[in-house]
Amino acid sequence: MARLLITGGAGFIGSHTCLVLLEAGHELVVLDNYANSSPEALRRVVELAGPGAEGRLQVIEGDIRRSADLERAFAEGASTEAELDAVIHFAGLKAVGESVAQPLRYWDVNVSGSQHLLAAMAAHGCRTLVFSSSATLYGYPETVPIPESAPIQPINPYGYTKAAVEQMLRDVAASEPGWRIASLRYFNPVGAHPSGRIGEDPNGVPNNLFPFISQVAVGRREQVQVFGGDWPTRDGSGVRDYIHVMDLAEGHLAALKALLSGGDQLLQLNLGSGQGHSVLEVIAAFAQACGRTIPYEVVARRPGDAATTVADATAAAKTLGWRTQRDLASICRDGWCWQSNNPQGYPKLS
Ligand code: NAD
Ligand code: UD1
Repeated sequence: MARLLITGGAGFIGSHTCLVLLEAGHELVVLDNYANSSPEALRRVVELAGPGAEGRLQVIEGDIRRSADLERAFAEGASTEAELDAVIHFAGLKAVGESVAQPLRYWDVNVSGSQHLLAAMAAHGCRTLVFSSSATLYGYPETVPIPESAPIQPINPYGYTKAAVEQMLRDVAASEPGWRIASLRYFNPVGAHPSGRIGEDPNGVPNNLFPFISQVAVGRREQVQVFGGDWPTRDGSGVRDYIHVMDLAEGHLAALKALLSGGDQLLQLNLGSGQGHSVLEVIAAFAQACGRTIPYEVVARRPGDAATTVADATAAAKTLGWRTQRDLASICRDGWCWQSNNPQGYPKLS
């Protein structure tokens, strides 16, 4: 059993990871300011985790940029004998378009927020960290499947902030031998817990394909726009590596185990399935899962998109003994279970 601080634990990936961590017996303190999430997500996580879980999850509403909030979180997480064992750092902003319009906000939350967190960790002698990085680092990839050795060449402010935090983590890891850090570069996280109780609940119009399709399926939107039908791919639509959020959550547990067992000091790993699916294939698979037609039209390409991004997932398999278990059909089935049971997402607080 470890005592863990989970920043951004109420969000999409954080909530699913909290469930997996509670099921594995860990004690959690979540620090989240609900900038993009609902307290309801963690209530449902506790309910799914079953009897006894409530006492192992403390939630602090607060901001990673505020030292006082971080101090509260570290104080809550410490036992009488020891400090927190590790931090999993999900908190951040993630919308590419918004990052172009509001770059300073992205540098503040993602980079300055991470810097404050690392300073608090150092002050408390907690030096084990799992960080949410992104395949967005690779920009327009030159080699597909993309290995971790591919050049870091982001193409938008969001990507630059992730690259900056990864660099900060390399510098910190090199500064003292006690640090154990994993930067996990997620490909396209999608789907939901199979219960349909927790899932992705974007604010406003979804930027990403999967929640958009889900909202068309449930009748909240009319049709999907397919961004480009002339990409050099098997059917002309863009190809991505979609990873079930439960596989991703289990990847965090595997990374945490590797770090806490005193393994490598710095891990930089892709978390993806290694399989590519086109936009049209995802639409067809979702239609199959929900038993409804998903109307779509092919429109112009979206600026900043690449034709194909797929992970070379071999390093995570070798280093962590982790690989994805769930296919596109399960992703769509579980995503539909969430969306059909929660057509408007989590209940909104008035
Ligand atoms: P999310 O928005 O659902 O979760 C982020 C959480 O962080 C939210 O609960 C939000 O309220 C919280 N938060 C934001 N700013 C905060 C602050 N200043 N202090 C405290 N909490 C704050 O996003 P997600 O999809 O769960 O992503 C989690 C992490 O993974 C992010 O860092 C994101 O950049 C990264 N990531 C996500 C994807 C993806 O497609 N979802 C892909 C690659 C990387
Ligand atoms: C996007 C971001 C990436 C970020 C990731 C997770 C861009 C260019 N990239 O990845 O930085 O890490 O989200 O937040 O924004 N598509 C449609 N119609 C839609 C939406 C998407 O056809 O309505 C297509 C896209 O062109 C792409 C695929 O679906 O081929 C997946 O798109 P999306 O879900 O937005 O993810 P990425 O672009 O891979």
